[in-house]
Amino acid sequence: MEVEAFYKRLPKIELHAHINGSISTESIEELLAKNQEKGRPQPDIEALRQWKAKVENGEQMTLDGYREKNIKICFDMFKLIHQLVDNSEAVAIVTRNVIREFAEDGVKFLELRSTPRDVPETGMTKRSYIEAVLSSIKQCKEEGSDITVRFLLTIDRGRDLQTAHETVQLAREYQATSDGVVVGIDFSGDPNKNDARQYIPVLQEARKSGLKLAIHVAEIPNVAENLSLVQLPPDRIGHGTFLQPEVGGSEELVETVGKLRTPIELCLTSNLVGQTVKSFDIHHFKYWYERGHPCVICTDDKGIFATSLSQEYQIAASTFNLTREQMWELSFGSIACIFADDETKDRLRNLWAQERSKLQSS
Ligand code: IMP
Ligand code: ZN
Repeated sequence: MEVEAFYKRLPKIELHAHINGSISTESIEELLAKNQEKGRPQPDIEALRQWKAKVENGEQMTLDGYREKNIKICFDMFKLIHQLVDNSEAVAIVTRNVIREFAEDGVKFLELRSTPRDVPETGMTKRSYIEAVLSSIKQCKEEGSDITVRFLLTIDRGRDLQTAHETVQLAREYQATSDGVVVGIDFSGDPNKNDARQYIPVLQEARKSGLKLAIHVAEIPNVAENLSLVQLPPDRIGHGTFLQPEVGGSEELVETVGKLRTPIELCLTSNLVGQTVKSFDIHHFKYWYERGHPCVICTDDKGIFATSLSQEYQIAASTFNLTREQMWELSFGSIACIFADDETKDRLRNLWAQERSKLQSS
């Protein structure tokens, strides 16, 4: 899709980006070349190549009624990416490239999230994984990149409670030593796996330590589970696809989120490709946006879903007939939802004011 210059130049905030799901085709090629150079075995990623080609052509989106199947395929793709990103150097390369790609797309503030993994065969530990991410964030800052980056550690609901607990311990440790870069916890993973309610004490423990919580909620319908999650309450909700009663949620869910005004990270292409939403025009962005609820447009996994944040802004604008002024307000309003102090928010608001006059004078 050709993205109009306005959306690329619009200063933007990205708050929902999984590092490995954001991997670009260029990064995949770079990692394959690196393996070859080092004589390392190459993982078979043919299925990933085919998937990317299909999504780029919009083919996956034509599937209908295959919600579970498409979500399953997405998670198969993550597994393939993980086979390629199986060492600390690869983690650093992907992170660095993802930051540069978002910066080139006009993103000024970026919260990345990722699941710390250990791979004994390559010597990667959860700590070296986190440090690889932090080193790339630092590198981009030292290079003078025009983007501020923060990091959330991911609890994967597909893994056990002990692992979740360890992730919170690591997040606490790095929150204290990363110069303010590690700010919180993301709760995600295959929504068909495990009962999310069992992780609630661990998430509460994280919050007690001052970590912010960005929680994937209602990716599939499940009123009881989703109610417990929104009542936590999280600092932000990821997706919130099945909150409304009309789609299998409930009045109580909508009222709770509405009253708390918990910001929602909305990822249009991700939901369409994952087939949890059948077409853009019925995406729940409309429902929450029209209620004046805090909405943040995000990409989720720009690599897996072949998109960019500017493209997501353009899709929202064209689908819901929003003016450029409204898109500006949407991006400006997202600053209130970032996990940062008031000083950082004020700095970004000043930056937005400068960018606005540049955009107007062009
Ligand atoms: P990583 O944590 O950087 O390895 O990014 C990929 C991981 O993010 C996947 O293995 C999933 O656990 C998680 N993830 C990415 N997108 C989604 C989503 O839409 N729903 C739930 N989990 C997701
Ligand atoms: Zn996500």
